Amino acid sequence: MQGVMARRAVSSAARNSAIAQRCFSRSQVAQKEAPLQKDDVSVPKMPPFDYSPPPYNGPSAGEILAKRKDYLSPSLFHLYKKPLNVVDGKMQYLFDDEGRRYVDAFGGIATVCCGHCHPDVVDAIIKQTKRLQHSTVLYLNSAIADFAEALASKLPGDLKVVFFTNSGTEANELAIMMARLYTGCQDIISLRNGYHGNATGTMGATGQSIWKFNVVQSGVHHALNPDPYRGVFGSDGEKYAKDVQDLIDFGTSGNVAAFISETIQGVGGIVELAPGYLPAVYGSIKNAGGISIADEVQSGFARTGSHFWGFESQGVVPDIVTMAKSIGNGIPLGAVVTTPKIAVVLTRRSYFNTFGGNPVCTAAGLAVLRVIEKENLQENALLVGSYLKDRLMAMKNKYEIIGDVRGRGLMLGIELVTDRQEKTPAKAETLHVMDQMKELGVLIGKGGFYGNVFRITPPLCFTKEDADFLVDSMDYVMSRM
Ligand SMILES: Cc1ncc(COP(=O)(O)O)c(C=O)c1O
Repeated sequence: MQGVMARRAVSSAARNSAIAQRCFSRSQVAQKEAPLQKDDVSVPKMPPFDYSPPPYNGPSAGEILAKRKDYLSPSLFHLYKKPLNVVDGKMQYLFDDEGRRYVDAFGGIATVCCGHCHPDVVDAIIKQTKRLQHSTVLYLNSAIADFAEALASKLPGDLKVVFFTNSGTEANELAIMMARLYTGCQDIISLRNGYHGNATGTMGATGQSIWKFNVVQSGVHHALNPDPYRGVFGSDGEKYAKDVQDLIDFGTSGNVAAFISETIQGVGGIVELAPGYLPAVYGSIKNAGGISIADEVQSGFARTGSHFWGFESQGVVPDIVTMAKSIGNGIPLGAVVTTPKIAVVLTRRSYFNTFGGNPVCTAAGLAVLRVIEKENLQENALLVGSYLKDRLMAMKNKYEIIGDVRGRGLMLGIELVTDRQEKTPAKAETLHVMDQMKELGVLIGKGGFYGNVFRITPPLCFTKEDADFLVDSMDYVMSRM
């Protein structure tokens, strides 16, 4: 074990020195950077917003951190050197315990789509909570039926049977089980670098070692990732799709249960699958008797701007669609939508989920769909997202460290590298920029297998002024490194 550690240390030291020769290393960043001067007139200014949160009299960040250490899982982590105590939210803004406002460009990890505490969603939750909070689906209630009908109307083809869950993990677990039951096969094909959840089946489907514990995860084959930036075939979707056919031919009996993937990998660092990939793969899967599952947990609900669902950008219709996150604007809710033919497999035994379809959650879900329509949030995601992407692309011309800018609508990624040719992940610089942007009042996310990709997934009410503030802040930080 020690030998392995030593080898790792040597190889990582060698790697680091190679990086240092080509570009700035972390220690050089620290030496060069100028401290943030908040009274500097060139510091970008946050757009005005007419709202003041109520005074906060709760415990301090330090006290909360101490309780977390004593009473919560040691696996919890936080993003910043000085963790943020967030106590209020309003639309695309968050407020800390001192009333300081932040532009929230991460949206609770692509979850808050209408805006924090959107009044229509809050209203729906309060109204339903006052009337009936919980009953289970053993009794009739209109909240679940109305939302199922509205949700089904947003999906193409025969996708009209809805199962509600409490999370994305649960939705994907259920989808995988249904695929296995429907086809009588066990083999699942998923993508390297994908993320689908943290229970046994979904952890198996997930394709990143960092999210996979050392427990039995059987029956999944991980195909080449059709990643236009880092993948071996660039943007040629059909070439990557051949790997799925090879897996079917050489790794299974010739029949499979399902193929599951995101259309834009979120946790994996906003990787949009190469064009032409899904139509080719869905064809191979169908020929092998399997079904196609689209994981829309991050890319659904108008986030990509061009379409309501991510898979639509590849012109395919899946057999099962799974969703969570934005579906409830932050309320715990997930769903599996499929065809009547596939849905019937769950009648073979009893299937029950105590909270799935809870009236409060489904009332919130219906309110979310109405807000997306009423406030033209899909259009806004396209408009503001395209504007933001253009500005980020322009920044890429200014800073060598920006290796790639990608994504659609308000699901954007910025990959930092210390060497554009080698695509060496600029991990430390990513953390540094994130931390400094927080100091300026902008919260962004981070992801990718190497932890070197900024994830921009704000509430869909994000404005051009917010986008300008984000880019100007990133520019300000990078110009001082
Ligand atoms: C694409 C995707 N699928 C599934 C999940 C799991 O969802 P949850 O965390 O709600 O279980 C996530 C979570 O980040 C996700 O990004």
